[in-house]
Amino acid sequence: MSTNWWKKAVVYQIYPRSFCDSNGDGIGDLNGITGRLDYLKTLGVDVLWLSPVYQSPNADNGYDISDYRAIMKDFGTMEDFERLLCEAHKRGLRIVMDLVVNHTSDEHAWFRESRKSENNPYRDYYIWKKGKDSKPPNNWGSWFYGSAWEYDQQTDSHYLHIFSKKQPDLNWENPKVRREIYDMMTWWLEKGVDGFRMDVISLISKNQRFPDGQVTGAYGEYGDLTPYCENGPRVHEYLQEMNREVLSRYDIMTVGETPNATVEEAARYTNAAGTELNMVFQFEHVAIDHGPYGKYTENRFRLSDLIRVMSKWQEGLSGVGWNSLYWENHDQPRSVSRFGNASTPFLWEKSAKMLATCLHMLQGTPYIYQGQELGMTNPNFSSLEDYPDIDARQAYELLVKAQRKMSEEEFLRCVQNLGRDNGRTPMQWSGQKNGGFTAGEPWIKVNPNYQRINAQNQVGRPDSVFSYYQRLIRLRKTYEIITEGTYELLDSGSNTVWAYQRVWNRERLLVLANFSDQEACCPLAKNPEVTRQILISNYDDVKSETLRPYEAVAFYERERADENI
Ligand code: GLC
Ligand code: CA
Repeated sequence: MSTNWWKKAVVYQIYPRSFCDSNGDGIGDLNGITGRLDYLKTLGVDVLWLSPVYQSPNADNGYDISDYRAIMKDFGTMEDFERLLCEAHKRGLRIVMDLVVNHTSDEHAWFRESRKSENNPYRDYYIWKKGKDSKPPNNWGSWFYGSAWEYDQQTDSHYLHIFSKKQPDLNWENPKVRREIYDMMTWWLEKGVDGFRMDVISLISKNQRFPDGQVTGAYGEYGDLTPYCENGPRVHEYLQEMNREVLSRYDIMTVGETPNATVEEAARYTNAAGTELNMVFQFEHVAIDHGPYGKYTENRFRLSDLIRVMSKWQEGLSGVGWNSLYWENHDQPRSVSRFGNASTPFLWEKSAKMLATCLHMLQGTPYIYQGQELGMTNPNFSSLEDYPDIDARQAYELLVKAQRKMSEEEFLRCVQNLGRDNGRTPMQWSGQKNGGFTAGEPWIKVNPNYQRINAQNQVGRPDSVFSYYQRLIRLRKTYEIITEGTYELLDSGSNTVWAYQRVWNRERLLVLANFSDQEACCPLAKNPEVTRQILISNYDDVKSETLRPYEAVAFYERERADENI
């Protein structure tokens, strides 16, 4: 039934809480999104992925769901959702839902039942274990810091939570759990949604021996659960079952979030026979700058690492799976601050366009995270209080308070660098108060640069970052080679330039990108032998042999059909 339309699609991720507030309560909402559909249509994207909009007590901004079939009050009602879906479809925009089924909220009815007694019918919906004398059953550390087990007095047992204790892990070993989830997914698909982005889907199968993990320091005194939970023993079996029972019955798009997946694992998840998922989000390129405490570091990336990782994924999935292409999402800092240069307006604009060029000329399905199309930057707030993310809060308790691994000032710099809230500041619509995001008090501070960087002064201005994204999207729809061409890394002769080509039939696409604020010598920029057409470039002209600061250019070449006769 699947037609692979998602291979040609461009996806736009919406973080509803920070996108557009329609009623002045400071929180983005569904009606706010509906009001901006024309903007998204103008940009030219095909699919909207909504971060979770389900009922949730918001311990992790909606990634803790208490009712999968209800809409979060802050966001509106089910009628609002249906109207959004209908208005999106009218404009030819598809909607992909976030599916968070590794865990629920502890306020979900299943969990409330489950914790009541050991013989409750919902007991086995979650992962309960007896501790060793009041101590947790093993040493696993939560990805949100502290123990991954929470003690519950009522039944003198511990439950597993890879994320916060308000996010108990579901027990996928239980066929009833799987049935419930498949039914819920079918319910949404029958409503007309166009697919799912599956939150940490690679974690759903746990090694049933629950052995202690290695203590690496990354989780303080706790052990690393990753080898026993990530890409676990039955994960492919579960996804194949889900595919048979649900996914294969609809013409939809699926993307799995798979931290730590290798190319080999990703090839299984996204196998060309289509028995599991269409594509996954790998994490290697967004971990190249991580330090001993993960994202809480002041490290900067090295271009050679970025090129190596991106090339590995391009080559590794070619013909056997499918890549998703992203620089940003709601868990990542802004790419122009991270991989580009936001220090002056000139470098900011060039590097935002350069990063866009590199990503959109690769093979795979590109994702644009809200505000990326405007070149939104990290906000550099001066106080930790301006960063409400649960991940940062818990890391602070562990790294600064409990273990004294770093000072408060150093931790703030780490959060400013790679913290998750960098991507969660309100969308900058205009130069008006709060960037036009809300008439009230925003739930998180607006980036102070909203007067300079906003949609109003970019839409329709030919040299804006927004217009550049529009052009990249249009090129993908025009040139088959962008979807189909194989990727080849080229030696650019420079250590600040990423150069690659895409090859398909008698066509070639050559992409050159300078990742520095200095001119770079690049012999590839010149080739007198062939006439090249400039597909897109972030400068007005192209100079031979050198690339200017953050210059990016994509050339297109096509052999004339009679040349080889
Ligand atoms: C995913 C989400 C992240 C969330 C976590 C737990 O990584 O993207 O925002 O905190 O899963 O659901
Ligand atoms: Ca609102």
